[in-house]
Amino acid sequence: MQKNSKIFVAGHRGLVGGAIVRRLQALGYDNLLLAGRDQLDLQDRNAVEAFFAANKPEVVILAAAKVGGIHANNSYPAEFLHDNLVLQNNVIDAAYRHGAAKLTFLGSSCIYPKLAPQPIKEEYLLTGPLEPTNEWYAIAKIAGIKLCQAYRRQYGFNAISLMPTNLYGPGDNFDLQNSHVLPALIRKFHEARANGDHEVVMWGTGTPRREFLHVDDMAAATVFLTETYEGEDIVNVGVGDDISIRELAEMVKEITGFEGRIVNDASKPDGTPRKLLDVGRLHGLGWKAQIPLHQGITGTYRWFLQHHAEARL
Ligand SMILES: NC(=O)c1ccc[n+]([C@@H]2O[C@H](COP(=O)([O-])OP(=O)(O)OC[C@H]3O[C@@H](n4cnc5c(N)ncnc54)[C@H](OP(=O)(O)O)[C@@H]3O)[C@@H](O)[C@H]2O)c1
Repeated sequence: MQKNSKIFVAGHRGLVGGAIVRRLQALGYDNLLLAGRDQLDLQDRNAVEAFFAANKPEVVILAAAKVGGIHANNSYPAEFLHDNLVLQNNVIDAAYRHGAAKLTFLGSSCIYPKLAPQPIKEEYLLTGPLEPTNEWYAIAKIAGIKLCQAYRRQYGFNAISLMPTNLYGPGDNFDLQNSHVLPALIRKFHEARANGDHEVVMWGTGTPRREFLHVDDMAAATVFLTETYEGEDIVNVGVGDDISIRELAEMVKEITGFEGRIVNDASKPDGTPRKLLDVGRLHGLGWKAQIPLHQGITGTYRWFLQHHAEARL
């Protein structure tokens, strides 16, 4: 990958895509190809075909997807399965046929079995039943991994797949119906403090344990592995450490300055009891996360306060 390679970052207005663009620019990559959904609907096969034929990107980073938390996954199973399959099929196939030298596909830690041993090694993929609340999304992502592996085996296409843990950071989605747990907590505690509320209701029991990686770390890992890794095996991208949702809520409460109580709504689903990625392969390839959780959430809350008007609420 040269500094002037033409790099298409699909989904550059999203949480991860935006961070990847910032990272590439900071490293001096100066030939980025960007097209928002208004210019290119990645579900439209003909439009994707025409875009790749006209632009012939040398490197493709696929950070576009239909993404959401438990509620969104449960409510829109058809869209999570169909839209993600169509989008990734279009992009991976067009990248191969129009001669891209490298494609990086982003999966997710939810591809692993619900009750996988912890920490989760890459080889646990397809060894047990998935978490039912997000199996639609997970099945689409597993199909994406397999498509990358199949195109590598049959056509020699240099496609790699990275499995990020839960991500957070500037540009996140703070919409309470469709967001992930961390941005939802930031928004809830912020609004409770602003409204002078005495309590914040937290979904689920608070006992599940989760791992959180700052999106700037994710972007750094994505660029590093796009530059250096050329294997069929998937690679987990995480920090290698987790925290209970209850502890996370206490941390967000402290950072936002909310002084009331935290109340659990145990009628809401918890999801997988624990999800911690084994990052041995990633460390072996020469990359480690840098941003501590407290520092990362503090910066994200600062971003939320400064960008309230344009944040996804
Ligand atoms: N966030 C996480 O915690 C997390 C964890 C693990 C893996 N990942 C993976 O990281 C990748 C990016 O996630 P994210 O959190 O950055 O999501 P995001 O903030 O929702 O960004 C997704 C981007 O994809 C674009 N997109 C979706 N459908 C499109 C279409 N048909 N045509 C053109 N653009 C389209 C969206 O455009 P619009 O803005 O127009 O909708 C958006 O800019 C995904 O593959 C996801 O699975 C994320």
